[in-house]
Amino acid sequence: MSQVIPDRPRGLLIVDLGTQYAQLIARRLREAGTWCEIHPAAKALQAAKSMELAGVVLSGGPASVYADDAPDVPAELLELGVPVLGICYGMQWMSRTLGGTVEGTGEREFGHTEIHLDADHSSLFAGIGQDSIVWMSHGDKVTELPPGFHTLARSETCAHAAIGDDDRRFYGVQFHPEVHHTARGKEVSANFVLDVCGLPGDWKADNIAEREIQKVRDQVGETGEVILGRAGGVDSAVAAVIVHRAIGDRLHCIFVDNGLLRKGERELVEHAFRDHICLDLTTVDARERFVSKLDGVDDPEKKRKIIGYEFIEVFREEAKRFTNARFLGQGTLYPDVIESVAAHGGNTAVIKSHHNVGGLPDDLDMELVEPLRELFKDEVREVGRYLGLDERILMRQPFPGPGLAVRIAGAVTPERLELLREADAITTMEIEAAGAHENLWQYFAVFLPVKSVGVMGDARTYESACALRVVESVDGMTADWGYLDREVLRRISNRIINEVRGINRVVLDVSSKPPSTIEWE
Ligand code: XMP
Repeated sequence: MSQVIPDRPRGLLIVDLGTQYAQLIARRLREAGTWCEIHPAAKALQAAKSMELAGVVLSGGPASVYADDAPDVPAELLELGVPVLGICYGMQWMSRTLGGTVEGTGEREFGHTEIHLDADHSSLFAGIGQDSIVWMSHGDKVTELPPGFHTLARSETCAHAAIGDDDRRFYGVQFHPEVHHTARGKEVSANFVLDVCGLPGDWKADNIAEREIQKVRDQVGETGEVILGRAGGVDSAVAAVIVHRAIGDRLHCIFVDNGLLRKGERELVEHAFRDHICLDLTTVDARERFVSKLDGVDDPEKKRKIIGYEFIEVFREEAKRFTNARFLGQGTLYPDVIESVAAHGGNTAVIKSHHNVGGLPDDLDMELVEPLRELFKDEVREVGRYLGLDERILMRQPFPGPGLAVRIAGAVTPERLELLREADAITTMEIEAAGAHENLWQYFAVFLPVKSVGVMGDARTYESACALRVVESVDGMTADWGYLDREVLRRISNRIINEVRGINRVVLDVSSKPPSTIEWE
């Protein structure tokens, strides 16, 4: 019998004290080859006790340790016998809790700073060089060290830019090793993982994949069957391959043509799956069903909920065809499930409900199988690569589950869908033909329910508009609008206006995220 894999591997706990960078910290630690998970202060102790804990990272945060709204961090986190790294606020909290002094300086230090390592600087800074550029963003600072600590690095304005107590393996850095402006931040994170915490650094694609495959096997058992909803994107493709490796033909992939797909999407997914991955794939034609349910609905959240609900209904109906299909597979990712902390306490507001996390009915009589639930997108791609997935599938643009419905501002109609599909196909084709897509995260068209006057030949037109959304991003969490060459823009615009009857104006979306989002709804 195979060994049952523990729920979570040995790794690090990141305590989110209100930072914007919790996910970045996690990605740096994972790049160093360790498992880690993020929890808010209120749940940190419980999480620490339920993990096989190798170390704790206390994040930064916007509060002052003396403020009324300062996060209530349990001091027991410092009594668990594992190494602790406090970053910015985390360092200040740890210093104060252990008997040091933190003072407000009345001015913020923000931006690039040079730090100088002390001769006796500990393994946290091994291989980094005497002087290094780091990113600072703080008002308060540690002015008196707690007993047992010594200074590891200083800057012009900060006498204790890094501190440590080697016996207890407690360290604090006033700067942010997780942001890429800190030149040797990656090395600091890796030193903490490998040298200070003594982890093996083996959280890598091959181990992750084999582990997830084994977990699915354990969960589904000898006879269970899994229904897995295939969208067009990389997540569900990787999830499908993992489940397939685990249970073979007891996986049944369902591809729902909900009428909200891009042009050619259905054929592409069917071809890629049947011909290259050889999975059991059933296409359900649910176009009429979804589009009619969306009739007259223009509220973005309502659209998302309706689509999420219909998806589940389709899967439930399909599950009835199989005797043991008690499991529903999903490509949920880690960023979808992290409980993040708003800058001023409480959970961050729901901006958009992603249907693969919210929107599941309470009476869902199927157990979820989510082999990517612990992974970031870049890890998913690495795992997919390890499992032999085609690069064209791995590098596809993300496409939201609710599809074109969230790229039509306002109500969804069959006519609008058709116009958008054509405009979007032209946009994609021209950007890719020009080779302009290499550094882009996403590029697509959005239908705008705005009519404007134009002139075509000698005739007046009064038709709809579309926007081009082209963004650069590393992970979709933040994004900048992408630059397209004037010639490429001209070709896209000419072709849409000439070839798509019903659109007579093309505009360019030049908004970054935040404050905008990538999708319009
Ligand atoms: P936003 O619009 O929130 O999008 O800036 C961030 C990234 O997520 C994708 N996205 C979704 N993906 N289900 C998904 O699987 C969804 O409901 C969904 N909504 C947005 C979006 O395309 C972008 O890459």
